[in-house]
Amino acid sequence: MKKFFTITMLMFSAILLLSPQAGFAYENFNQGCLTCHPTTAGTGLHTIEAHSSCATCHPGGVPGKNVEPSACIVCHPRGNTGLCPLIDLPAHDSQKTTCLGCHPTCAPAPTTTTTASNTTTTTVPPAGGVITIDPAEIEVDGTNDVTQDINVTIDAEGLTEADLEGLEVSFSDACSEYIEVNTFNYEISGQKVEGTVNITVKGAAPTTECTLTAKNTSGTINVEETKFTITSTASPECEIKSITPNEVRVGFGILPRIQRFVFTFNIDVAATGITEDDIKIDTPNATIFAAKISGNTITVWSILRGLKPDSTYFFDVGDCGRVSIDTKGFF
Ligand code: HEC
Ligand code: HEC
Ligand code: HEC
Ligand code: HEC
Repeated sequence: MKKFFTITMLMFSAILLLSPQAGFAYENFNQGCLTCHPTTAGTGLHTIEAHSSCATCHPGGVPGKNVEPSACIVCHPRGNTGLCPLIDLPAHDSQKTTCLGCHPTCAPAPTTTTTASNTTTTTVPPAGGVITIDPAEIEVDGTNDVTQDINVTIDAEGLTEADLEGLEVSFSDACSEYIEVNTFNYEISGQKVEGTVNITVKGAAPTTECTLTAKNTSGTINVEETKFTITSTASPECEIKSITPNEVRVGFGILPRIQRFVFTFNIDVAATGITEDDIKIDTPNATIFAAKISGNTITVWSILRGLKPDSTYFFDVGDCGRVSIDTKGFF
């Protein structure tokens, strides 16, 4: 069954998403913008009437060197707010190339993308978008559940707040039974959607490959081909699947007879290092005199002497469990 989850935006995610980028110039208004937009008394931003409410630029209303350019695009450019319009501002022409160096999603779309048969290489994502997830693989050990954040970026060209409506992500059937999605927080960053999906993968999940799907209401986001893998490092427990034959005729049980049994296992039992000595039967009236262990089968040759008819006897094979055979008389 597919699980869908619709989500709330967290105010915090903006901060979380910014933090990995610390170290870039321009991440704070101090670097880059101040050259042309000074804040010193008598000039610049602080002298503008409309800038008298400190908290619109200073987070928490605390003045200082804490102003980020994200504060400006709440109001600017006036009439058409946003990162790309700000970069496109004629007054920023001399800076545009520099801006685009770090904000490539604002680069003008190539003009050759209108026909399906175009052969030029473009950087425009296909309709419906591209989703990248990191990590795309999670390892489980057979026992312990793993809870982890998956970073998700959806690039469907020029996404805006409106594209967040009805945004859902889900894992395809193969994985959904092993994955619990705890939270999905996302926001528009530049023209992409960036977010974090917090999932818990069941420790007992087997190695499974599936896909992660992202869709929104308007269809501007519709990506399905993202591979996600659960890798299990657990060695499956050995288990006897069957014994052939599981019923032998012993007549009156007096005459010794040679009987061959074939055990079939769920795994490559030879690889577990099991030996003939690990195979036991719960009666002294049967002895195993030869065994061949190969792949997921063990063939044993035994001498049955004095087994009672209409009884049940048990074989134990190492840690792989127990299997029974029934005996029958002549009739
Ligand atoms: C339009 C946005 C804006 C508004 C509104 C604004 N500031 Fe600023 N302020 C800035 C910028 C940009 C800087 C330089 C930021 C930086 O260095 O990170 C700054 C820096 C400061 C500094 C630190 C100066 C320094 O060099 O250490 C103080 C103090 C300050 N502002 C006080 C205020 C006060 C008080 C108000 C409200 C009356 C206010 N600001 C309103 C944008 C604004
Ligand atoms: C050296 C790299 C770099 C350059 C050059 C640069 N920026 Fe940025 N910019 C960043 C980083 C890093 C962030 C914060 C992360 C983010 O929001 O993607 C940011 C954020 C912004 C934001 C806030 C975006 C948002 O969605 O909240 C605006 C607006 C912005 N930059 C405008 C500009 C403009 C205009 C220019 C050119 C004058 C420019 N930037 C040049 C690195 C840069
Ligand atoms: C709360 C809304 C708001 C915020 C936030 C804001 N501004 Fe403004 N800003 C205005 C308004 C409104 C004007 C127009 C004032 C006028 O026309 O008298 C203005 C004027 C300006 C001007 C003068 C040029 C022009 O277009 O009129 C500059 C430059 C400017 N702002 C830069 C910034 C920068 C840089 C930031 C971010 C640090 C910022 N503003 C944040 C509302 C805002
Ligand atoms: C090379 C100089 C230069 C740099 C660098 C620069 N700007 Fe500007 N910016 C201008 C000029 C010129 C204007 C025109 C308005 C004015 O100040 O008179 C302007 C206008 C603006 C406006 C007002 C837009 C509007 O019309 O509503 C904002 C907001 C702004 N810049 C933000 C930024 C931010 C954020 C950065 C840094 C990421 C930045 N600028 C870097 C020169 C620059």
